[in-house]
Amino acid sequence: MTSRRKFIQTAGFAGAAALIGLPEISLAEKRPASGTTKPIVLSTWKRGLAANDGAWKVLSANGRALDAVEKGVNVTEADFTDRSVGLGALPDRDGHVTLDASIMDEHGSCGSVAFLQHIMHPVSVARLVMEKTPHVMLVGEGALQFALENGFKKEPDKLSPASEQAWKEWLKKSEYKPVVNIENHDTIGMIALDAAGNLSGSCTTSGLAYKMHGRVGDSPIIGAGMYVDNEVGAACATGVGEAVMKICGSFLVVEYMRQGMSPDAACRAAVKRLTERNPNYKDIQVGFLALNKQGETGAYAVQHGFNYALCDSSGNKLVDADFFVN
Ligand code: GLY
Repeated sequence: MTSRRKFIQTAGFAGAAALIGLPEISLAEKRPASGTTKPIVLSTWKRGLAANDGAWKVLSANGRALDAVEKGVNVTEADFTDRSVGLGALPDRDGHVTLDASIMDEHGSCGSVAFLQHIMHPVSVARLVMEKTPHVMLVGEGALQFALENGFKKEPDKLSPASEQAWKEWLKKSEYKPVVNIENHDTIGMIALDAAGNLSGSCTTSGLAYKMHGRVGDSPIIGAGMYVDNEVGAACATGVGEAVMKICGSFLVVEYMRQGMSPDAACRAAVKRLTERNPNYKDIQVGFLALNKQGETGAYAVQHGFNYALCDSSGNKLVDADFFVN
């Protein structure tokens, strides 16, 4: 245990928080752990219900959290009707769907891909980057080449009928201003704790609708869109990636938990930091999810409208997150 952690426990959280510059969160918000809830999985937005079902097949059979978070988000990636994950999603402003994804396991190993085209399951390519290469991240043509060399099928660069229609409509004005909870309702992030007590996380997205060609968001950036520390907890983010990247959002949530905050308090503190660093926060949506080693969960968003799916042995349900502004 670090001396800082010892100090926080000795001096009391509120006093220590003030000294080390954390937002003040009362002791009441630092809930005591009431036994461990495991296995458990949570993921962003309503689409997370189906993804959690996929993950639960692994977790309920005593499988590894890493397999659960890959198989879980694979469900969303394969859904051609989804508007912001996978190949059926809304394109960039030039009419191409480009995908970002990341994955991280209980050992702190991680892999990611960015600006990847033609591949149905970018998170599975990210896992292979983690397992088969000395690198963490591959992008663009190199990521595609790696995927094809490893047996992934090259899919056509063809928009779904709904995405094509929406893009053509957007082109009439070509106005770049993502609509809160619609065009930036964008990522599936998933975090899980397995029966063995190990954490993992994943994230996969087509990014913001009508982004510039080549734009990469927070989802494949380890520590921004998703982060796992098996000693402490896991976190993931959804929403406008630029705002999340500016505060290393998921890493920040995990670090707040390390310093003693509950998952809820950690998400709230990260949103507070985000609003301080992003003057445009009233025009954007960002939501965080967090899970600690005890299976306690938390969520918080900048705006009204963020929800998430939570699945444990009592069932799979949709939960509305609290938020900072209306
Ligand atoms: N949060 C996903 C993105 O901004 O691309």
